[in-house]
Amino acid sequence: MGRNDSNVTKMRKKQILLLKIGVVVWVCVIYAFFLHKPAATSTQKSHDITEQLDKLEEELNKQSQFYSVLLNKLRTMHQQQQNLGDEAVLQDPIVESPLLDGPVLPVLLIACNRDAAVRRSLDLLLKYRPSQERFPIVVSQDCGHRPTREAIESYGEKVTLIQHPDLSDIEVPLKERKFKGYFLIARHYRWALNQMFQKFEHEAVIIVEDDLDIAPDFYEYFSATYPVLQADPTLWCVSAWNDNGKADLVDVKNGTGLLYRTDFFPGLGWMLTKELWEELGPKWPRSYWDDWVRAPEQRSDRACIRPEISRTRTFGKKGVSNGLFYEKHLKQIYLNDAYTSFTKMNLTYLMKDHYDLVFEKQVQASQVVTINDVKGDRLAKGGFYRLIYHTKDNFKKLAKSLGLMDDFKAGVPRTGYKGTITFFYRGLRIFLSPGNNWKGYNPSWS
Ligand SMILES: *[C@@H]1O[C@H](CO)[C@@H](O)[C@H](O)[C@H]1NC(C)=O
Ligand SMILES: *[C@@H]1O[C@H](CO)[C@@H](O)[C@H](O)[C@H]1NC(C)=O
Repeated sequence: MGRNDSNVTKMRKKQILLLKIGVVVWVCVIYAFFLHKPAATSTQKSHDITEQLDKLEEELNKQSQFYSVLLNKLRTMHQQQQNLGDEAVLQDPIVESPLLDGPVLPVLLIACNRDAAVRRSLDLLLKYRPSQERFPIVVSQDCGHRPTREAIESYGEKVTLIQHPDLSDIEVPLKERKFKGYFLIARHYRWALNQMFQKFEHEAVIIVEDDLDIAPDFYEYFSATYPVLQADPTLWCVSAWNDNGKADLVDVKNGTGLLYRTDFFPGLGWMLTKELWEELGPKWPRSYWDDWVRAPEQRSDRACIRPEISRTRTFGKKGVSNGLFYEKHLKQIYLNDAYTSFTKMNLTYLMKDHYDLVFEKQVQASQVVTINDVKGDRLAKGGFYRLIYHTKDNFKKLAKSLGLMDDFKAGVPRTGYKGTITFFYRGLRIFLSPGNNWKGYNPSWS
């Protein structure tokens, strides 16, 4: 190892020391904050305490953000140091990432002609990536747009670029002319997924598009859920997205570790296995692939895992997607910012047999309430409640008034499981659910 390397090592050790000192100082500040609570008169006391608690909460939130940034810095430095060789090995490894070992889970990023968007997506994918070996990033570019290709190439060996060879025009029925983008996307997906599974022979792929921000625990989430996906044949995907993931519909404070099963295919950052691709690939549609996937013939009663709090957020679509829909819903999805160590949790509860038992029990045990009870702030916080719907219009009306998505695809409402939408509203856990004599989804509901 050369002189330069050992200088770099010294420098890194210094940086780590400084970071450690930073942590100690921070802890002292917080400690002081606790000790020097100002004395209050008895009349003011209650008010002051509330205010103090609010401040403390704000302070703790800031800290948690600070630590997660710090953790990432240390992780990166630790990794860089390991890459430098023996001399650079740390005496006491500060961060033991459980994500360095395990099956390879590649990320496939679908790109076209938006260089700034690709950069933004790649920057975050690389920022949070714990290991290049476990999580190789493959960017598949369609469209032949040069600035986008150059943007991807500027990341060098950190990512692999593959380019869709078929840039030919595509024949689209006259009345679907304005939806041509959907045809091009479906063709690109089929080619790119074939590359991932047939050419590179991966066992599973995490697929994202070039308009997604990811959460710090994105890789952790997919690592931990992969064994569940493999073990349970009634699951066919893991998605990082909650369609009803607006801040006022999820338990932001206490729900970061919560995961669910859903009959609705969410997409937007999702993982599939080779087995599923072998099934879907040969009959892949010419367009509208996501709605095709949601049709009963493809889904065959299978479910996806989805989080309470989204691990992806879309930052906008030009062209093919609906602008109003983006403003009203997609843009408001809350992106998780607290790191959850899913790989250290027991996720067996997501397997169908375990999950359904608990789920049915919870729904049945919940107090049946009306929309006025829910909106009137009359119910005890922390409880479980059930709002019942019987018709499509009934569902839509309730969903609308609560800010939930009110559409159906192949009769399944977004995030629905056994017809039930689970969400969190003003401190209440609520099931928007069909009556007990529910007979299954009605594909004519749209
Ligand atoms: C937080 O969630 C856990 C389960 O994830 C639950 O046991 C606990 O009661 C919740 N705490 C609050 C304050 O809601
Ligand atoms: C994991 O959870 C499942 C059910 O949720 C339980 O049956 C099993 O005993 C748990 N395993 C461990 C090691 O705690």
